[in-house]
Amino acid sequence: LDNGLARTPPMGWLSWQRFHCDRDCETDPQNCISENLYMTMADAMAANGYRDAGYQYVNIDDCWSAMERDPVTNRLVADPVRFPHGIKALADYIHGKGLKLGIYGDMGNKTCAGYPGSQFTLQLDAQTFAEWEVDSFKMDGCNSDPKLFDSLFPQMSVFLNQTGRPILFSCEWPMYQHRAGINPNYNLIAKYCNIWRNYNDISDTWVSVLNIIEFYGDNKGNFAQVSGPGAFNDPDQIVVGDPGLSASQQQVQMAMWAIFAAPLLVSSDLRDIDPVSRDLILNKGEVNFEVWVRRVLPQGSYAVAVLSLRGGGNKFPVSFSLSKLVPDARGKYTVTEVFTGTAVGTYSYNDTITAWVDVSSVVFRKYTSLS
Ligand code: DGJ
Repeated sequence: LDNGLARTPPMGWLSWQRFHCDRDCETDPQNCISENLYMTMADAMAANGYRDAGYQYVNIDDCWSAMERDPVTNRLVADPVRFPHGIKALADYIHGKGLKLGIYGDMGNKTCAGYPGSQFTLQLDAQTFAEWEVDSFKMDGCNSDPKLFDSLFPQMSVFLNQTGRPILFSCEWPMYQHRAGINPNYNLIAKYCNIWRNYNDISDTWVSVLNIIEFYGDNKGNFAQVSGPGAFNDPDQIVVGDPGLSASQQQVQMAMWAIFAAPLLVSSDLRDIDPVSRDLILNKGEVNFEVWVRRVLPQGSYAVAVLSLRGGGNKFPVSFSLSKLVPDARGKYTVTEVFTGTAVGTYSYNDTITAWVDVSSVVFRKYTSLS
C-alpha cells in the first residue's frame, strides 16, 4: 500500500498472543486488556531500549471495546471500566512516549471474541480511529464472507486513506481466504494493505513456529514476490520472551522472520522478560554484506557486486559459486574485475571463488560466459 508507511517491515508490540482476551482486571490487574496494560508496556518499550531499536507500534487487539456501540452516534467506544480515559487519551500517552498506537477491528458484524464489528460502519470507524489519532489498524475477518474480501478490504483501505491521517493498514484478508480454499490475489492485497496475515495464528509453541515457517517455505501463490516497501507478508507475532520456546528456538524465530522481511510485532511481556530474550529482540543482527547480480551481455554473462555493509574492521572474505547466485548457470566463465579489467581467472559455474571486501567497499566482477 503506497501510503508512505511501512517502508521497512513495521516493528512494535501486539497484545494478542500473550494477553489474549483477559478481561479479569479484578484478579489480574497487570495483565488484563486495559489502558494500564498498553501504558505500562509503552513505558517499558521507551525505558528499556525497544523504542530506540525501532519497536514503534503499541498494538491493541480484540476485546478493547464496549459490548455495544454508542446508541446515539453509533460509534465504537472503549470499554468504560478497562479504558476509563478512552482511546484518544491512550493515543496521547503513547505518542508522548515517542511511540505509535495501533487498534483492532473486524470486517464482520462481530469480532472473533464477540465485540462489535465494522460490517455496516467501515467509513464511520475509519473516521473514529483517525479522530482518536490512531496510527495503525488491524482488521480481522471473523463473522464475514472471505469471498467478499477482494472488495471489502480495498473499501476500508480507501476509507482510511480518506481520513487524511496516515494509518498503517494490517489485513487478515488472505488468511481467511486461504482457510476458505480461495487463492488470495496477493497483488491486490499488496496494493491495499501495508501488512497482511496469510496463515494461522501463532501460538507459543515450537510446532506452531515450524508450521508457519513451512507455510512460508511453500510460498503458495507466490506471496513472497509481492513483498517490498509498503507491503509485507505477516507471519504473525514474535513469541520471543514467552515461556514456550527454548533459547535456540527463539533464535530460529528471529532469524526466519528477518529472512521473510516480516513485521516484528513482539507479543511477550516486555515489562518482565529474561535478559537472553531481551537481547535477541534488541539484536541489531548486522548483516555484513550483500551480493547483487545482474544478467549482462553477451548472453549467459553476469555482473556481480559484493557490497560490504561493515562500518569497521579489516577486509573480510565472501565465498560463493555462481550457481549459488544463479541456479540456471552452466559451463565456464572468465571472471574479471570490472574497474581494473584485471583477470581473476577462469572458473566453472560451481567453483567457489572468494572476494575480499574492504569496509564500505564493493568487489565488482564480470562473469563472461565461455559457452
Ligand atoms: C484472529 C486473529 O488471527 C488473531 O490474530 C487475533 O486478532 C484474534 N482473531 C482476536 O480475536
